[in-house]
Amino acid sequence: MPVITSIDDLRHLHRRRTPKMFFDYCESGSWTEQTFRENSSDFDKIRFRQRVAVDMSGRTLKGTMLGQPVTMPVALAPIGSLGMQNADGEIKAARAAARFGVPYTLSTMSICSIEDVAQNSADPFWFQLYVMQDTGFVDEIIERARAANCSALVLTLDLQILGQRHKDIKNGLSAPPKITPRNAFDFATKWRWSFGMAGTKRRTFRNIVGHASSVGDLTSLSAWTAEQFDPRLDWAKVERIRERWGGKLILKGILDAEDAKLAVKAGADAIVVSNHGGRQLDGALSSIRMLPSVVRAVKGETEIWLDSGIRSGQDILKAIALGADATMVGRAYVYGLGAMGEAGVTRALEILQKEMDVTMALCGRRTLREVARDILLVPRDFEGDWAENA
Ligand SMILES: Cc1cc2nc3c(=O)[nH]c(=O)nc-3n(C[C@H](O)[C@H](O)[C@H](O)COP(=O)(O)O)c2cc1C
Repeated sequence: MPVITSIDDLRHLHRRRTPKMFFDYCESGSWTEQTFRENSSDFDKIRFRQRVAVDMSGRTLKGTMLGQPVTMPVALAPIGSLGMQNADGEIKAARAAARFGVPYTLSTMSICSIEDVAQNSADPFWFQLYVMQDTGFVDEIIERARAANCSALVLTLDLQILGQRHKDIKNGLSAPPKITPRNAFDFATKWRWSFGMAGTKRRTFRNIVGHASSVGDLTSLSAWTAEQFDPRLDWAKVERIRERWGGKLILKGILDAEDAKLAVKAGADAIVVSNHGGRQLDGALSSIRMLPSVVRAVKGETEIWLDSGIRSGQDILKAIALGADATMVGRAYVYGLGAMGEAGVTRALEILQKEMDVTMALCGRRTLREVARDILLVPRDFEGDWAENA
């Protein structure tokens, strides 16, 4: 068993053990990948202030997200096709999250269905909704999430149309994958993955198949998205979904202070400051750079969470110090799943927790309530000196 000490170790193992098509699907951003890269490199520009001779005993990272107790302020973000990274991946991630005491979010575009996950994991999970043109399908999937006891709905607002990732096109990404001579060789060398896949019946988008009418070629995610996702999604439709759901609502994909205000008006219980991990608008600023302006606009009116670019517990602490109430992680746990299945997701969470705890202590704080901007050194021009565009 390799010694895993960082999220990057998990990433390396994920790359070694998972077919190239699926590793690339995870490890890519749209077009030039500028936003994807800066999501992480901008975290590196922020530094910590070391403080000493402070009593460090009795530390805790515990808190709440939407009133739900969490062992640390981290939820697992929704990831499409997760069950292609590792057999039954959604069930494994949900179980690891439940055992660790953090929320798991199931994507609309998951391989395991809502019902599969509900039957195989003890704790309630959250469901992420992509709005389709077929309102009948949208209403039905909301009912299915309710019936499965999902405790919050995460409505993703930044993917009405799909950003282009060059690698996915070149790799011929599909679920289930097509067997070509090149793929067959790749799958044969990734024997753990292949055995896992041979042993499960969950190999296509089970939330969709058998539920949506007029399902065209679902194996090609990009073609299907272009055909089915609702390009007319607007705030009035958000309102309709909020009413239809009636429970806790998280609006994901907010990157601008103006949109944050509109999200509050639309009744969001939480917003996720996110650029979809750099997979949508290439050239947008990183989430961590946009966070302070969103915090100034809506702090206290809704919970403010951040995702995109988090690769360590230190990154999480930086986001909290800049005013986020909590975070979501995407790739950090996908690497774990691709590397070692359920145990890998747990390992990823342990690494994030340990890094956060030690960093908080060395900054002289014992609880996240005590964590504020004054534990950081933030470059003067961090938010950027952009010309006014209004
Ligand atoms: C492989 C992959 C698939 C994703 N699928 C979805 C999805 O189905 N729904 C969604 O709302 N976000 C999706 N996202 C975005 C994540 O929920 C999250 O916003 C992003 O991964 C955060 O950035 P990080 O990976 O740098 O942590 C996906 C991200 C990745 C990497």
